[in-house]
Amino acid sequence: MKNIAVFASGRGTNFKAIAQAIKRGKLKVNLALLVCDNPKAAVLDKAKKLGVKACLIQREGFAQKKDFEDEIIKHLKNNKVELVVMAGFMRMLSPHFVAAYKNRIINIHPALLPSFKGSRAIKDAFDYGAKVSGVTVHFVDEAMDHGPIILQEEVALGESSTLKALEEKIHKVEHKLYPQAIKLITQGRVKLRGRRVIITGR
Ligand code: GAR
Repeated sequence: MKNIAVFASGRGTNFKAIAQAIKRGKLKVNLALLVCDNPKAAVLDKAKKLGVKACLIQREGFAQKKDFEDEIIKHLKNNKVELVVMAGFMRMLSPHFVAAYKNRIINIHPALLPSFKGSRAIKDAFDYGAKVSGVTVHFVDEAMDHGPIILQEEVALGESSTLKALEEKIHKVEHKLYPQAIKLITQGRVKLRGRRVIITGR
């Protein structure tokens, strides 16, 4: 079974959804490690409850970003991690890190990229008056919310819909889509052709 690491900075509902998919036997990977950069993050409690090994590595503990990332890479290597799953990790990885795990880092974004990049995507789509938004799972490259798209699913915004209702709908889709994407990748069914992602056996 492939070893994966989840990177998270906050609530960790995607982390929990992935851990539960594994527990239920729907996703056959080993969740080897949670990497967290925020000592106050609720995801740390979730990891404890779910019995997942967690490491807290704070940017403030290192003079240079490279040293911070090298410490993370050390933990990934020690745990033989083959796929990095970013789930609300609110930090850009440097080109140095991306190169170390080339095409082996994925991210989930709560909008249909390339629309509504950034850290407030759900609110931005709502405030913009979009009729449709959604969820994107993509490979991570050097640019923000930019790498090749693996899966997308749309979420409609009803005209009377509230921001809270949209957030709930988006998170529900995220919790389904991310385990699916991890499954496809770890089964070797995801191929890259430039920016195009081909999924085989569907
Ligand atoms: C998720 O909605 C994820 O898509 C978003 O952070 C949230 C984390 O929630 N990521 C981004 O906005 C990245 N640009 P969670 O901690 O409950 O999984």
